Amino acid sequence: MDFDGKTILVTGSTRGIGAAVAELFLRRGGSVILHGRKQEQLDAALARLPNSTARASGIAADLADPAQCRALAQSISELDVLVNCAGIFRESSIGETTLDLWNETIAVNVSAPWVLSQALLPALRRRQGVIVNVGSDAAVLGYAGCVAYCAAKGALVGLTRALATELAPDVRALCVCPGPTETDMMQASVATAPDPEAARRQWASYPLLGRVAAPAEIAEAIVFAASPGARYLTGSIIMADGGASAGKRV
Ligand SMILES: NC(=O)c1ccc[n+]([C@@H]2O[C@H](COP(=O)([O-])OP(=O)(O)OC[C@H]3O[C@@H](n4cnc5c(N)ncnc54)[C@H](OP(=O)(O)O)[C@@H]3O)[C@@H](O)[C@H]2O)c1
Repeated sequence: MDFDGKTILVTGSTRGIGAAVAELFLRRGGSVILHGRKQEQLDAALARLPNSTARASGIAADLADPAQCRALAQSISELDVLVNCAGIFRESSIGETTLDLWNETIAVNVSAPWVLSQALLPALRRRQGVIVNVGSDAAVLGYAGCVAYCAAKGALVGLTRALATELAPDVRALCVCPGPTETDMMQASVATAPDPEAARRQWASYPLLGRVAAPAEIAEAIVFAASPGARYLTGSIIMADGGASAGKRV
């Protein structure tokens, strides 16, 4: 069990990819701190976990607020792995993007990982820890209609490389970039499209593998990045996108 005796914080683990990550770390022997905005959602996520709940706990914080990010970090004394998975995706063209939408997207997707990494650094250094940021294929591909999200995920890749450079060899930092994945985030995008079925087919057509991912498939890549098997990887950008960013068959 790679994570026996290890403590892992997974932000945004009430559902979606983060919930699958939390579950996989628990199966691999870790003690996991789940996180989401609201205590009720956290309690429901904890109740859904199979068997290993003795090693699972939860802390609520709204990561759009830097003060709540710092309070979350201050409530954790020992940490081996920080997974910055919480994220928001708001569709909006360049012309329609308001400053509020821009600021909220940057706050949750980039500023929170930075504040948490900074505040939890002493704990991570003590344990030769790992930071895994959850990016997106939108970090390296332009998607029409989500300018703030593309900018935020691109910045998260830059943050990851800077952290890796400054913190080596004590703390590793990596970014796992999922492609389209079957979660509430993707379902919300499909549901608001003019033709939801066409939108679903379109998402599935981007990856070379011809389908969207299951959250558990992305969790495998994230847990690998944090594992001893990845001990020679730092600053790596792991594209877990079914080949969406690798190329196009023409
Ligand atoms: N799904 C995809 O197709 C896809 C593709 C590429 C990258 N990603 C990235 O993968 C990560 C997980 O996405 P997902 O699809 O699993 O998303 P999701 O199903 O929408 O879940 C988002 C999680 O983030 C938390 N969260 C959102 N805003 C927050 C805030 N202000 N403060 C604290 N927590 C907040 C949510 O907690 P609450 O319960 O409090 O709402 C929830 O646990 C994100 O970083 C996303 O950008 C997803």
